[in-house]
Amino acid sequence: DRHLLGLKHLGQEEIVGILNRAAHWEQAGKVTPLLEGKFVANMFFENSTRTRFSFEVAEKRLGAQVLNFAAAASSVEKGESIYDTVRTLESMGIDAGVIRMKPIGLLAELADKIKVPLINAGDGNNEHPTQALLDLYTMRKTFGEIKGLTVSIVGDILHSRVARSNLWGLQKLGAKVQFCAPDNMQAPELAEYANYVSMDEALQADVVMMLRVQLERHDKGFIRSAEEYREHYGLTVERAGMMKPHAIIMHPAPVNRGVEIDDELVECERSKIFTQMSNGVPIRMAVIERALA
Ligand code: CP
Repeated sequence: DRHLLGLKHLGQEEIVGILNRAAHWEQAGKVTPLLEGKFVANMFFENSTRTRFSFEVAEKRLGAQVLNFAAAASSVEKGESIYDTVRTLESMGIDAGVIRMKPIGLLAELADKIKVPLINAGDGNNEHPTQALLDLYTMRKTFGEIKGLTVSIVGDILHSRVARSNLWGLQKLGAKVQFCAPDNMQAPELAEYANYVSMDEALQADVVMMLRVQLERHDKGFIRSAEEYREHYGLTVERAGMMKPHAIIMHPAPVNRGVEIDDELVECERSKIFTQMSNGVPIRMAVIERALA
């Protein structure tokens, strides 16, 4: 199966294989002709900066021909479905598709019907497997191995595909995952896999992974303002001072500076936020190679 729909159903060996190939690609020259003559379509039905451009860089570095599809400038605006759009591009001869969309569950349906490999670039709050892979890669590079690490994921767990993909991937590689979130941002269906801890406990982990707070969804809940969120759940300079000396800060970005993380911390020594973005390129090269080579 050359699709990549998520990490929940991907084996530990497959995950490690992707991380190892990413390490190879990180060292490789800027462009190799491995995928010369292959066409890859990036189909984004939701906005993106990092995922879309790092897939494009990865595809071009492997020598593929890249087609960029943006829903806003397409016949989706006339009511065409995601399935018909993907079938249309498949009928034109693409060899693989990278796809981001809101509906949950649709990707698995598409993967049954579409013959070319599909790579999940984020589907609703379900999974964002390449984000978690680049996060795993960043942790492995920092600490040497993932087994035995404690990782706190802090923030809007309920709406986060990043939290879910990281949970599945980290547990498969032997890390302990704990969540920290206000009541209205907790995901009940994940409670059997990870404990919810206080902010003070979350700060004692090896990795403190902050999530973007989607304030627009919480106007009637516990969180009424950015200031209130920062006070209770933000990674402030003061809180970062309580972290263990070796511990790192991660965030998938985009970042709300001054809300879930203080401006001064985004590029501080502990922060791996921009390193995560750099690592997205070799990880996506490994994922595209797995789909096509
Ligand atoms: N981290 C992430 O997925 O960012 P984009 O939404 O910009 O792709």
